[in-house]
Amino acid sequence: MRIKISIAKRSAAAPAPWDGAAGGVDGGKRTFTPWNFISELFYRISRGKVKAVKAEDVNPETTLNTYLRDKVHLTGTKRMCLEGGCGSCVVAVEDVVNGQKLIFAVNSCLVSIFSCHGWKIHTIEGIGGPTTQYHPIQKLLAENNGTQCGFCSSGMVMNMFALHESGPVTKKQLENSFSGNLCRCTGYRPILSAFKKLASDAEEKVPSNDIEDIVSCHNGNCVEPCKEICEKKNKAGFFYKLRDTKWMKVYQLKDLLELLRNLGTNTYLLVAGNTARGIYRRTEIPNTYIDVTSVTELTSYSVEKETLILGGNVTLNKAIDIFRRTSEKNPGFAYMSQMAEHIDLVANVPVRNIGTLAGNLMTKHDHNEFPSDIFLLLETFEAQLVIVDSAEREISISPKDFLKTDMNKRVIKSIILKQYDSTYKFVSYKIMPRAQNTPAVLNAGFLFKLNGNAVESARIVYGAINPNFIHASNTENFLKSHNLFDNVVLKQAYQILESELDPDYVLPDSRPEFRKLLAISLFYKFILSVAPDDLVSPRNKSGRCLLKRPVSKGVQEFGTNKKKYPLSEPVIKLEALVQTSGQAQYIADIPDLPNQLFAAFVTAKAPASSRILKVDTSNAFRVSGVVAYFSKDDIPGENNFMPKFNIFTVQEEIFCSGVVQYYHQPIGIIVADNHDVAVAAAELVEVSYSTPTHKPLLTTRDVLRAGATDRIHHETTVLPVRRDNDIKHVIKGNFNIDMQYHFHMEVQCCNVVPTEDGLDMHPSTQWMDLCQIAASSALAIPMNRCILRSTCPATGGGFGAKISRNTLVSTAAALAAYKLRKPVKMWMPLEANMNVIGKRYPFYVEYDVGVNENGVIQYLEADLYSNYGVGGNENITSLTTDVFQNCYDIDTWTFSIYRVKTDMHANTWARAPGSMESLGAIESIMEHIAYSIGVDASDVKMANINGTKHPKILEFWKEMQTKADIKARKQSIELYNKANRWKKRGISLVPMAWTLEVTANYTVWVSIFHGDGTVLVSHGGIEMGQGINTKKVAQVCAYKFGIPLEKVAVGPSYNVISPNSSTTGGSLTSEAVCYALIKACDTLLKRLEPIRKKMKNPTWKDLIEQCFNSNVQLGASGFYSEDEPGIQEYLIYGVCATEVKVDILTGQLQILRVDIIEDVGNSMSPLIDIGQVEGAFVMGIGYYTTEEIIFSDEGEILTNRTWNYKVPGAKDIPIDFRISFPQNNPNPVGVLKSKAIAEPPICLSCAIPLAIRNALASARTESDPSKPKWYPFDGPSTVENTLLNTLNNYNQYVL
Ligand SMILES: Cc1cc2nc3c(=O)[nH]c(=O)nc-3n(C[C@H](O)[C@H](O)[C@H](O)COP(=O)(O)OP(=O)(O)OC[C@H]3O[C@@H](n4cnc5c(N)ncnc54)[C@H](O)[C@@H]3O)c2cc1C
Ligand code: FES
Ligand code: FES
Repeated sequence: MRIKISIAKRSAAAPAPWDGAAGGVDGGKRTFTPWNFISELFYRISRGKVKAVKAEDVNPETTLNTYLRDKVHLTGTKRMCLEGGCGSCVVAVEDVVNGQKLIFAVNSCLVSIFSCHGWKIHTIEGIGGPTTQYHPIQKLLAENNGTQCGFCSSGMVMNMFALHESGPVTKKQLENSFSGNLCRCTGYRPILSAFKKLASDAEEKVPSNDIEDIVSCHNGNCVEPCKEICEKKNKAGFFYKLRDTKWMKVYQLKDLLELLRNLGTNTYLLVAGNTARGIYRRTEIPNTYIDVTSVTELTSYSVEKETLILGGNVTLNKAIDIFRRTSEKNPGFAYMSQMAEHIDLVANVPVRNIGTLAGNLMTKHDHNEFPSDIFLLLETFEAQLVIVDSAEREISISPKDFLKTDMNKRVIKSIILKQYDSTYKFVSYKIMPRAQNTPAVLNAGFLFKLNGNAVESARIVYGAINPNFIHASNTENFLKSHNLFDNVVLKQAYQILESELDPDYVLPDSRPEFRKLLAISLFYKFILSVAPDDLVSPRNKSGRCLLKRPVSKGVQEFGTNKKKYPLSEPVIKLEALVQTSGQAQYIADIPDLPNQLFAAFVTAKAPASSRILKVDTSNAFRVSGVVAYFSKDDIPGENNFMPKFNIFTVQEEIFCSGVVQYYHQPIGIIVADNHDVAVAAAELVEVSYSTPTHKPLLTTRDVLRAGATDRIHHETTVLPVRRDNDIKHVIKGNFNIDMQYHFHMEVQCCNVVPTEDGLDMHPSTQWMDLCQIAASSALAIPMNRCILRSTCPATGGGFGAKISRNTLVSTAAALAAYKLRKPVKMWMPLEANMNVIGKRYPFYVEYDVGVNENGVIQYLEADLYSNYGVGGNENITSLTTDVFQNCYDIDTWTFSIYRVKTDMHANTWARAPGSMESLGAIESIMEHIAYSIGVDASDVKMANINGTKHPKILEFWKEMQTKADIKARKQSIELYNKANRWKKRGISLVPMAWTLEVTANYTVWVSIFHGDGTVLVSHGGIEMGQGINTKKVAQVCAYKFGIPLEKVAVGPSYNVISPNSSTTGGSLTSEAVCYALIKACDTLLKRLEPIRKKMKNPTWKDLIEQCFNSNVQLGASGFYSEDEPGIQEYLIYGVCATEVKVDILTGQLQILRVDIIEDVGNSMSPLIDIGQVEGAFVMGIGYYTTEEIIFSDEGEILTNRTWNYKVPGAKDIPIDFRISFPQNNPNPVGVLKSKAIAEPPICLSCAIPLAIRNALASARTESDPSKPKWYPFDGPSTVENTLLNTLNNYNQYVL
């Protein structure tokens, strides 16, 4: 859908009564109802006292999030997207409405601080923590391994807190309530498992005393502290007069209308939930904000004369509740239960808690292209909107007419819904790119009145066709008095529908042909669902409903060795409670220092190859608080954030040096005294450009088509040993998969503090050494003047994006801090982060394979292209080469690897770079072979496997057959697909051999403190959620010293202690750090030994004290490098079986069951390793099914928000997710017999698109037997891609 930036204001005509007053308390002439001026608003944070916010310190655009974090310094509440899409900012609000206490979750990034007057706000710090007592929900999440990087944890806890405080919920309701909380690390399973213990129908519940603890304050009445705050509430309207604007709070409709009448020339904005700003950014500040959330007439509802009347500003969740209850009480309103189901798919719980019906309708009114679900439902049901103007005149109009109504100084007062008897048939649909919390790619509502089978009236309403399309009027008219359940009539109806549907094509929206097909398919689905049973063929009944998802579950199987505890013990992360209680400090949480400044990139808004002609910063400098602008000319050293060392050879400019290399390339930074000011002012920098010299080439296909061979660099070719001749089939094709944004929840950021002779840098990086080199080279200062520290306990996720890309941010911030001699913090808003920073390499393969009748490859020729963008520093050739071979016999294979230069940002390593894409490619080729020759894909894979080199894969493969009951399930799938035309199931089995490369070095320092014998470790790796601190460092250290785990702590990584350490990535770091740690521990143990011998069975503490007294050095370092004895590459194996169900009429997907056997050697920390497998696989689900980066022709990224870039949510994960680690599976060359874990499992997720193809094979044959069962692998299997590949057309849509 189109996102336009709008000016959210309406203007009025006459001067307002208080205008002209020279400020001061209600300085205006009051010619109407007296309004109280108040200078403070009141709120209470959790257990704290009632507090007052001075109105002059904030403005209505100040969000609760900004206030909590920047003014009250409660940084446990996080922020990321600032648009209600990620949930990291969720807090719980307590309010007393009509004497009843309500607790609900809100997105603090959307709520204006002025809306908080009278609220009690529960923050993560307020509900529990180390100094009070951890809240049971905080403990639950921690103890169930529900955190990795921890950035999402406070939002998760607060959402659960609000949910639980609102009354009992079932597991199903609970699982349904996390659509607004994204987690990129865990894969949700452990989070849901933890919280489901609080469900009313939980099998395994939390101990009862814990539950009481949670509900003790849930008494439904206004308790003392609430009363205190209630008294601060004022039932008379009041206003805050601010510097440039006013905030008016009204309680009665007549006051609101009077206010509108007297507004004068002031611009104004009605504020209800204030959530629409999450979709359409507000760019202008109105003169007056009018808070309508407490206007009784707008927020109440009633049933009168067979109608339901809802106040315009009833919230969406309240509407759901009203619809459910009303539908139960009155058969004429039975249809409302379906409306409730539909609204349950709108946004997410925190948004729906405060977002209102009127706010949604006005968003549609102002932006006709917005696919409003509320508008769709109300228009389908012939609702009447009661609009009242400032003269108190009311009109009642249809939603459709409302869109054409001038709403200036008008209010949506109420919505009237009538009853329908059983002759009416109704269904509505919302088809989304993922299960929840995303706008519709298409929505539809059907309401038919039937007389027998004949149509008396028809309403067919669609959203997301084009901004003006509402009704399929021609189809509606045609169907009147026709028999709805006659195939001939239906065929004519489809034809008419097809001809009147006119979908527009506005990127990044889905393609018109898809939306048209989907619209017709949904109409067919409706017909099937309302048709009498005996008229629908049994096979076609499968098209009647959408996919229904049960509550998800998981199984985790692993072995441990108690004798070695804490090694191999399933412990929770060291940092878990710190994270779940909001104590974890990320870069943006570091308290601001005196004179703190903030920086934001100014980026090029022009296609690659445009030349910068002029940069005019004057408008930016007019903004109060702007301090400086720096560009390439201000860099004392090299304008390069990837200085040439080691493997890096390509210059990557910090700021554009003249010719734009990619759309949104940074050209400078604005520095200001506030983050929001810096971001806003950066947009005001005016840059003029020359015309670009060429149209951007963005994909490998663009480059190949353009014949731009100078952009293609040949990296390597693997040659065959032989070519076999039993060629029965030749299969040619290509494989194409696009990029993936890492979606680390903590965006790229850095805090730099100048010291007397250098810089103290706190980057959110996976590679301290590189940040240090880059800053020193850009500033031309020695490296020993750049001190670096990582955050502790964790970086808020990285997934590869912070290996090299953080250097851009940290170097820019370092430049500003160095130049201004002031601390500079820089965190990139999500859009900037997605615009500027490169992503996973898009991958394109052309192949030509000859096989025998069993699918054994006789020859394979393939060209593999990775799209590096403008980069070229982060090579993935060896990873691609290794994993493309997988576990197969490659003697007859020839393949070449190429690096392609395109006009987009420099792409970068992303979890399993090269290997993820190449495993997908080779598995896709194997399955293409299978479908082409009519042999089962598993048999083709087994026929090509190199069992001599990879016996383990044969072992795992066999185990999978029994563990996952493959044979029986394949049979059941076949039967199911035969019996069902419009739902298909499919399965795919993927084997994996993944090579661990060992090139890196790390230093570890271990300190033992003589006072109490505790141990502190610092290492050169970076903890970013993968559990390095717990798994390797603490568990191994405790094991080596024979002390309890609690005695070991891990401090921040620090370049003074661990100089020159390699990046944390490639799955290697945990093992390597562990290796170095063991060496350090051995050194210390050797030093302790003589003293130990002199003592009689000393305790650890006594031993250490004695050593100290004997002048034994109690600190030691260890070092890992690839040159260490015994270090060698090894293979990691895995097998995955994935079963899916696809709705053939919509393209929607359910992952029914996933079984993974993962080779972790002897796991050192099974829970941590399970978390890595689950999290990685779910990240892979996103890559292969929902995540798409779409560019404009100019090269601008159009999917750079949570609104349009879709990572998997809690209901996208496998319904049944089973992970198993083979037991007694030592890795002879691994550290402590273990294997690495972080990356390989993500590669196994290619089983999903292949299982989808397996499901579609049956549908394609039924649609058109002349077409191949296989369809090319081109981009992720989104609903769009899947539906378009079903080969559906409406001629098949019979009863
Ligand atoms: C993350 C996210 C996901 C979303 N997903 C969906 C989705 O899938 N489907 C969907 O349909 N919607 C979706 N929405 C939109 C959501 O439903 C709206 O943001 C919400 O309903 C707006 O209500 P509000 O009270 O917050 O409006 P506000 O933001 O307070 O106001 C919006 C506009 O309405 C005006 N207004 C408010 N009340 C009145 C009134 N009584 N009379 C006249 N004008 C009034 C305001 O002046 C303003 O112009 C999503 C929103 C977010 C943030
Ligand atoms: S920061 Fe508020 S929802 Fe993302
Ligand atoms: S733990 Fe959820 S985003 Fe990292």
